Amino acid sequence: MRTAEARETGHMEERVRRAVFGNQLASARPQAAAGSIEVRDLSCGYHGAPVLTGVSLHVPSGQFVGLIGPSGAGKTTLLRAMLGLVPRVSGEIRVGGKPVVPGRPPARIGYVPQVETVDWTFPVTVENVVLMGKASNGRWLPWPSREDRRDVAAILERLGIGDLGSRHIRDLSGGQQQRTFLARALIGRPRILILDEPTASVDIKTRDDILHLLVELNRDEGVTIVMTTHELNAVAAHLPWVVCVNRGVVAQGAPSSIFTSAILSRTFGTEMRVVLDEQTGNLLVAEAGSHGPFGRRATHGHLRVVAPPAELPYSPGDQAAVQPF
Ligand SMILES: Nc1ncnc2c1ncn2[C@@H]1O[C@H](COP(=O)(O)OP(=O)(O)OP(=O)(O)O)[C@@H](O)[C@H]1O
Ligand SMILES: [Mg+2]
Repeated sequence: MRTAEARETGHMEERVRRAVFGNQLASARPQAAAGSIEVRDLSCGYHGAPVLTGVSLHVPSGQFVGLIGPSGAGKTTLLRAMLGLVPRVSGEIRVGGKPVVPGRPPARIGYVPQVETVDWTFPVTVENVVLMGKASNGRWLPWPSREDRRDVAAILERLGIGDLGSRHIRDLSGGQQQRTFLARALIGRPRILILDEPTASVDIKTRDDILHLLVELNRDEGVTIVMTTHELNAVAAHLPWVVCVNRGVVAQGAPSSIFTSAILSRTFGTEMRVVLDEQTGNLLVAEAGSHGPFGRRATHGHLRVVAPPAELPYSPGDQAAVQPF
């Protein structure tokens, strides 16, 4: 027999599910093209100077993709280009099968910006930031309904910041700010989630909570996810598809084919080393200096250098499962 607490938890989960996906999507996965992203020969940048050149990328509906690359590589620029927020020099972007129009973010796409890029002086509470996610869905309301506020409360609760709704966004920790933006993206019932370093500046438990939530959204609701990360071992290695970015696409594929010394060194412009931890079967990536735990002179009985597998051809239909985080 279910306890009152379990029933309450069930109600809360259902409320979050409805708040995030609505009744019509709760039982049906999105249609094939609705969550796809197609980038063709894109060159874009700022003030006429291209940051990215010749980028072609196909993200099928329901895929979970990680973008990796060094600072300044153009990862944020690529995400923002998908939203129509970066001036394009040439090329084409389609989201959900429709061309992206500059200055007009596509519908049903949730965006979690990189925390460092947000203007924190904007006077707004957490609840109002999240409500903006409803407004960007094309339904601007001068004041929220009771239902809207309940939806916001449910999502904040799910993200572990239920008590912060009335706080000024500026007065939160980095991790709390990040979760506020995740809540804003989720309340718009996205088919696609674009996340810029959603796990930077959060502790390990919060990082795992966020990743598990993303895995659930991807697996259970078919939400397409594209996220950037600097965490190669803890995050990127677990994703089914990884795109290496450095002013263009250097390589892409499953981590088992991407995590090679050659590809990562080319991507990051510094010598990288990949070892297999035979105890866990995990690939581990590190800079190959003479310092640090994976330095050239270090020896580890249970670690062995991985022979680079041949680069696999890009096959967009491939969707390996997300590996447990
Ligand atoms: N608004 C802007 N105006 C002019 N140049 C910009 C602007 N935003 C980014 N850039 C430049 O574009 C390049 C790519 O920046 P971008 O933010 O896309 O890199 P990134 O890969 O996301 O880096 P990080 O890992 O540090 O977030 C950098 O050289 C950056 O200085
Ligand atoms: Mg960035």
